[in-house]
Amino acid sequence: MSTKATKRSPRVKPGQREEETLRVLISHQRIRERVRHMAQEIRRDFPNEPMHLVGVLKGSVLFLADLARELGGEVSFDFISVSSYGKGMDSTGEVKMNKDLDVSIEGRSVLVVEDILDTGLTLKYLLRLFEERKPKHLRVAVLLDKVERRIADVKADYTGFAIPNEFVVGYGLDYDERYRNLPDVCVVRLGPRGKTKIEA
Ligand code: IMP
Repeated sequence: MSTKATKRSPRVKPGQREEETLRVLISHQRIRERVRHMAQEIRRDFPNEPMHLVGVLKGSVLFLADLARELGGEVSFDFISVSSYGKGMDSTGEVKMNKDLDVSIEGRSVLVVEDILDTGLTLKYLLRLFEERKPKHLRVAVLLDKVERRIADVKADYTGFAIPNEFVVGYGLDYDERYRNLPDVCVVRLGPRGKTKIEA
């Protein structure tokens, strides 16, 4: 029986379009190990504390799911959805709330879970919003940090990986809503020798 119809180049990722190239930046194996260590760090800081994870939709979903399982102990979660105004990649700093949390965070040990820290404007908005709601503790865990892109004076308490100024997808992160399901974090470029989305 011919296997021709199902054969794919191993270099082509699921959902990949012809005009886009993807390069693995951080493998799923490395992500798993790092997430496990981050969970240990968090539990060292908050032993026996019920942790309330607040995921920022939609990019944080896979990271939150893995982190929550590694954390152990009492864990609950909630989600918020925000979007920042701006043209292309240039955020104006105005952040709009699309969906608020379902339950109060007052008196709870809250861990904000973000996929990526870029300009930091989204996180700045969220921290201001959450601080007003009087949580017992407010901490931030981000998987990726593009340090050189920072505009707002914010930083995460727990960081997975510092990455260069490249547009990345996978493990929850999207390009035009695609690639969130890739297990690895990949750099996406438009065209074989194309520009990254950021440079475009
Ligand atoms: P910030 O407010 O500029 O820090 O933006 C954070 C949000 O921008 C993230 O939660 C992502 O949704 C999005 N973002 C920034 N950089 C990337 C990227 O490289 N890939 C995918 N989304 C990104």
